[in-house]
Amino acid sequence: MKLKNVLVEEEGAVALLSVNRPDKLNALNRLTIQELRMALEDLDSDKGIRAIILRGSGPKAFVAGADIAEFAAYGEREGRELARLGQEELFDYIENLGTPVIAAVNGFALGGGLELAMACHFRVASTNAKMGLPEVSLGVIPGYGGTQRLPLLVGKGRAMEMIMTAGMIPAEKALEYGLVNHLCDPDELEDFCFELARKIVKNSPVALSYAIKAVNAGLRSSESGYQAEIDAFGKCFGTADFREGTTAFLEKRKPDFPGS
Ligand code: COA
Repeated sequence: MKLKNVLVEEEGAVALLSVNRPDKLNALNRLTIQELRMALEDLDSDKGIRAIILRGSGPKAFVAGADIAEFAAYGEREGRELARLGQEELFDYIENLGTPVIAAVNGFALGGGLELAMACHFRVASTNAKMGLPEVSLGVIPGYGGTQRLPLLVGKGRAMEMIMTAGMIPAEKALEYGLVNHLCDPDELEDFCFELARKIVKNSPVALSYAIKAVNAGLRSSESGYQAEIDAFGKCFGTADFREGTTAFLEKRKPDFPGS
């Protein structure tokens, strides 16, 4: 399978999956989302692969968010579709994948990038990682499950603060919050994740997939939160604030929100 924005490497029963657009800090455009889905389907159906590590290429970023340049001109309907398709095609798919997926967060994990890391079964970060949901600074809200998964992982108050301030938290804070399980030096992150993955692959693949299902079933009592997120995300695309926020980012200036 020939992929443009995603790299797949295999070492024994462990696959290393990399989002590979380092010049755009691995921002998630439609093609990257589709290719991640294809690669994951392929790995999940391969009986020889028992665990997956997901990372971003380059030293700077895991993923710096959804591709702002791609969605800046979208209207309400396209905005809602973007969130719905992304959630179904990738984020919910990873969360419910039978093969364990570890996020190796190397650098920025922002917006859709943090949402991608949160959809993985657990996270390990490098000490230079920076995490946040900056969407409201662009006139939009998290649309790939961030309003639902962040409170589950860090608690409602911390999630509200992160979403409202649009700020980034350093790796140590992410560890304290329980957003990541471990911190490593940047050049040890990959080895550390492989070590964890090798422990996982010694266990029963069938039992692992049932454990993932059972944990998710207990926590996902309400589907309506995700639907509310998709609806609100779509509405943002009809606002003057969204036009100003995304235009300001692309013009590399600070936004001046009209509040409508
Ligand atoms: N979408 C599209 N392009 C993005 C991007 C995104 N989410 N994040 C980074 N890029 C691009 C930049 O536009 C730039 O492209 P260019 O070289 O063609 O101009 C390139 O990636 C490098 O990013 P740059 O901003 O120059 O790096 P930096 O080190 O100065 O800043 C960040 C890093 C992460 C702080 C900054 O890129 C940023 O704020 N990104 C957007 C984060 C965000 O709001 N994500 C949520 C989206 S919903």
